[in-house]
Amino acid sequence: MISARVAADQTSTFPRFLDLGYPNIERGDGVWLFTTTGEKILDACSGGAMVSTLGHGAREIIDAGARQAEKIAYFYMDHFTNEPQEALAERLIAVAPEMARVRFASSGSEANETALRLARAYHVDRGEASRWRVISPAQAYHGSTMATLALTGRGHTLQEPYAPYLSPHLHIAPSTWRFDPTGQAALDELDARLAEAGPETVAAFFCEPVSGAALPACSPPEKFWHGLEERRKRHGFLICFDEVVTGMGRVGSWFAYQQLPIEPDIVTIGKGLGAGYAPISAVLCKQHVYDAVDKGSRSFDLGHTWDGAPISCATGLAVLDALAGRGLVDRVRERGTRLLADLRSALEGNPLVAEVRGRGFLLGVDLVDLPDDVHANERVEDVAFEHQLLVSSTHSTADGYAGDEVVIAPAFTSTDEELVMMVGRFAEVLSEVSASLGGG
Ligand SMILES: Cc1ncc(COP(=O)(O)O)c(C=O)c1O
Repeated sequence: MISARVAADQTSTFPRFLDLGYPNIERGDGVWLFTTTGEKILDACSGGAMVSTLGHGAREIIDAGARQAEKIAYFYMDHFTNEPQEALAERLIAVAPEMARVRFASSGSEANETALRLARAYHVDRGEASRWRVISPAQAYHGSTMATLALTGRGHTLQEPYAPYLSPHLHIAPSTWRFDPTGQAALDELDARLAEAGPETVAAFFCEPVSGAALPACSPPEKFWHGLEERRKRHGFLICFDEVVTGMGRVGSWFAYQQLPIEPDIVTIGKGLGAGYAPISAVLCKQHVYDAVDKGSRSFDLGHTWDGAPISCATGLAVLDALAGRGLVDRVRERGTRLLADLRSALEGNPLVAEVRGRGFLLGVDLVDLPDDVHANERVEDVAFEHQLLVSSTHSTADGYAGDEVVIAPAFTSTDEELVMMVGRFAEVLSEVSASLGGG
């Protein structure tokens, strides 16, 4: 039980949920979070947002940031470049050799919005200014800016009441076991959307190759990817992959697309690039995307104040060094198989569980459909806190594409013992929630 919480009427901050009290975290060490009142929480979700892949308090990353700050922490990229930015771009291309260029930003939303604008710039520079629409799977999350919010099809839970600000992009149902176990239904829907919109108006297909929070660890069947590839060739739109969650090793390869039979034209990364030590994200693109701008307007002029800042890039570089030097991407791939098997066996027979999925250190539990107002995901998070366990969740039921989802996404540095503890505590949590709801 976590006793001390900061309530909305005890703070000058503007909390996300005004009815929720927030435990106050003072420090972290590995997968452990310590509150100001001395309680210890087991972090099974890399800081809660699948970010802290190296755990809390990673000395080499802290030192790298401090060393760069001693030299110079910040200047604006409009005027200069810097060695950490140059080196990090080169190192990213080395682990994503399919890509040719890198543009840095600070958050996942910024990276996705930049990707959207790059897709548009590509078509405009090639003389196809009619292309602007985006098609994307509905049960997704791509960020909180108005442009990225328009890409998710989660009308009930995320888009209302901002609908007047959102571009009318097009959506298809996600390829889950509910709607589309083969991948064909999504392809049929994609064809229908292309026909409705006119393929000459479509700039991009935008999706997560393996979903993060919205449908954790879910990826369409191979048939869908082959069909998408064929339609890209036929209709000339770009494919943008949002790897803000999955990039930088989360699913056991540097990028999730490296496990699929398709390569994106543009891919974004975020969370794991700074691993919680700097807010840094990036957009990578293939040579032909760069070439369109190179031969066209010769300018891709957008930016944010912190893009490519020395301290952020030096931190990203240290993260990449730690992942590579300690073989952590391989560990995630190899250890992830057992983690999924352990989670499945621990949750077996729990009537609250519809499906348990996993890839690497990204695991998702799809809860059975319950009435929307039960807010099953919130109950799971609350009871998890009572067990001093941090997991994350999404209230998806209201959108009609999936049950509520719970994410477990441990730091890559979690020990075997800690992983076992996460699974054990989580199974206890779900048993308790299940019993409180009548146990089936
Ligand atoms: C798949 C995905 N894309 C984009 C974002 C947005 O990233 P940020 O919150 O850093 O803007 C998130 C955040 O959770 C995400 O999960």
